[in-house]
Amino acid sequence: MSSLDKTFAGESVVITGGSRGLGRALGRALAGAGARVVLVARHAEPLRAVVEEIRAAGGEAHGVVADVADVDAAAAIAGQAAALAGPIDVLINNASTLGPVPLRLLLDTDCEDLDRALAVNVVGPFRLTKAIAGSMVLRGGGAIVNITSDAATEAYPTWGAYGASKAALEQLGRIWAAELEGTGVRVLTVDPGEMDTVMHADAIPEADRTQLGDPARVAERIVGLLADASRGGAGGHVSVSGDGAPAGAS
Ligand SMILES: NC(=O)c1ccc[n+]([C@@H]2O[C@H](COP(=O)([O-])OP(=O)(O)OC[C@H]3O[C@@H](n4cnc5c(N)ncnc54)[C@H](OP(=O)(O)O)[C@@H]3O)[C@@H](O)[C@H]2O)c1
Repeated sequence: MSSLDKTFAGESVVITGGSRGLGRALGRALAGAGARVVLVARHAEPLRAVVEEIRAAGGEAHGVVADVADVDAAAAIAGQAAALAGPIDVLINNASTLGPVPLRLLLDTDCEDLDRALAVNVVGPFRLTKAIAGSMVLRGGGAIVNITSDAATEAYPTWGAYGASKAALEQLGRIWAAELEGTGVRVLTVDPGEMDTVMHADAIPEADRTQLGDPARVAERIVGLLADASRGGAGGHVSVSGDGAPAGAS
C-alpha cells in the first residue's frame, strides 16, 4: 500500500471500475489511508483478487459485482455498499468505456455505441450520484469524484463517443456542484492524464507504454486532492498526472 497515514480512517468509499487500472490503484491507496473501500466491476474474479490483495495488506475492502449502466445497478450498489461499509463518504465514478474499439470516426460510429458510452460514462454515474448524494447532504458532508479526460474538451478525431460522454459528465459535475453548494458535499472532476492501463492499450495499442503515467502515482494525487478540504466545490476540470503536480483547476 502506498500510504501509511490514516487520513481516511473510518470513511466509507465506493469506487466504480475498481478491479484494475486507476480504480484498483485508488482502492489500494484509500484502503492504505484507512478507508473502508467498496470496489465495483462487472467481472467477479479480478474484483475478488483486488479485494484479497487489499485485505492481505491489512486494509478493508469489499467487492460488488455490477454493470454501472444497468438501470437497477445504482440502488443495488448503494444499498450493498452501505450495508458492507457504512454510510458512504466518498463516491468515485471511475468505471468507463471507450465506446467502439478500435476507435472510429463519427461517420462510422453506430448509434448503439454512442448509447453505450453515454450509459456507462454519464447515466450510470448520474444514477449512482443520485442514489448516494442525498444521504451525504443529510449527514452534512461527503465527496463525489468524477474521473474525466482531456477528450472532454479536445476534439480528437475518433474519440467522439467517449469525448462527448466525458463532456456531459463534466457539465453534470459543474451543475451538481452548484446545486450542492453549502451542503458540505464536494464535487471533483479529475482528469488523470494518460496512464498505462487496459483502456489505454485498447485505445492506442501502438503507444510507448514507458511514456504513460503510473496509475498508482495518479491515485496518490487524487487521494491528496480528496484529503484537501479546500479542493472541489465548483466541480470544474482538475488535471493530475503520474508525473506532475496537480494543475489546471477550474
Ligand atoms: N488510461 C488512461 O490513459 C486514461 C486517460 C484519461 C482518463 N481515463 C479515465 O480513467 C478512468 C479509469 O480508466 P482505466 O484506464 O483505469 O480503465 P481500465 O484499466 O480499462 O479499467 C476499467 C475498470 O472499469 C470496470 N468497468 C468497465 N466498464 C464497467 C461497467 N459498465 N460497470 C462497472 N465497471 C466497469 C472494469 O472492470 P470490468 O471490465 O470487470 O467491468 C475495470 O475495473 C476512466 O474513467 C477513464 O475514462 C483514463
